[in-house]
Amino acid sequence: MTRHVLDLSDAGTDALAAMLGDALTRKSARQGWPKGKPDDDAPLAGHVLAMVFEKNSTRTRVSFDVAMRQLGGSAIVLDAGTTQLGRGETVADTARVLSRMADAIMLRTDDHAKIEELAHYATVPVINGLTDRSHPCQIMADLLTLLERGKALPGLELAWLGDGNNVLNSLIEAAGLFKFNLRAGVPQGYEPDASFIERARAAGATITLTRDAAEAVRGADVVVTDTWVSMGQDHAHNKVAAMAPFQVNEALMAGAASDALFLHCLPAHRGEEVTDAVIDGPRSAVWDEAENRIHAQKSVLRWVFGQL
Ligand code: CP
Ligand code: NVA
Repeated sequence: MTRHVLDLSDAGTDALAAMLGDALTRKSARQGWPKGKPDDDAPLAGHVLAMVFEKNSTRTRVSFDVAMRQLGGSAIVLDAGTTQLGRGETVADTARVLSRMADAIMLRTDDHAKIEELAHYATVPVINGLTDRSHPCQIMADLLTLLERGKALPGLELAWLGDGNNVLNSLIEAAGLFKFNLRAGVPQGYEPDASFIERARAAGATITLTRDAAEAVRGADVVVTDTWVSMGQDHAHNKVAAMAPFQVNEALMAGAASDALFLHCLPAHRGEEVTDAVIDGPRSAVWDEAENRIHAQKSVLRWVFGQL
């Protein structure tokens, strides 16, 4: 069976835990090295990753490329607009061709159904680099960051503030898989996908939705937010107005645990979902979180190739 990572559940808790352990080990083994130098064992030597972007990216694009270099392989970046996919070649035919030319495919797209179709027709692993529905690789980097900071995942209390978007859906999925709890402060009409909530609750996580930002952060070990307007969405005035009470600022952070961490997948819209004082403050782990995209994805890549 070809291993795909369209969502975290495709791998399951044991495999994800193995990936996180591998990421911690590999990261610590290469402290201070030049970023493009391969790991000593170069476990993906000779492997090529094709990355297809239908939306903008800085972190996902650079971190997968550097991850492949560190694993001894290489990556090719395709901006969909300059490919034949952008001119109407089918997803199925693109999957068939890229499967002959590359050893794995990463896709960032607006429509989750498209990555499911790609995985259906691909004969090599397909990895989700963000869809309208989920962003599993981001959450692997977030979990790695929490572990590095000494936070054990089971029983951890996370707070999410703002839009019920793709990143929150994957975070809720992770809550079910790793048995942590999540209180999401989201305005009415902007809730996360109900199917993610149901599955996480069925797995034993406590997932709470509230309209009260202070209630969401009360005593939380980790406070997480993201842009109020995701790529592909209208920058609607009424949405931004609805989100305003959920801004993560120092006053709100004061209600979290005294050692609470702040996470944001980035890019940040400073002055909207988060203030400078919080993102640049002592509780912010966002730069580690961004770097950890490399380390977490190296282990995701090793897993899809059957090395974990
Ligand atoms: N967090 C994240 O996925 O960033 P990019 O959009 O820059 O890839
Ligand atoms: N929710 C954001 C995440 C960007 C990394 C978006 O989809 O635009």
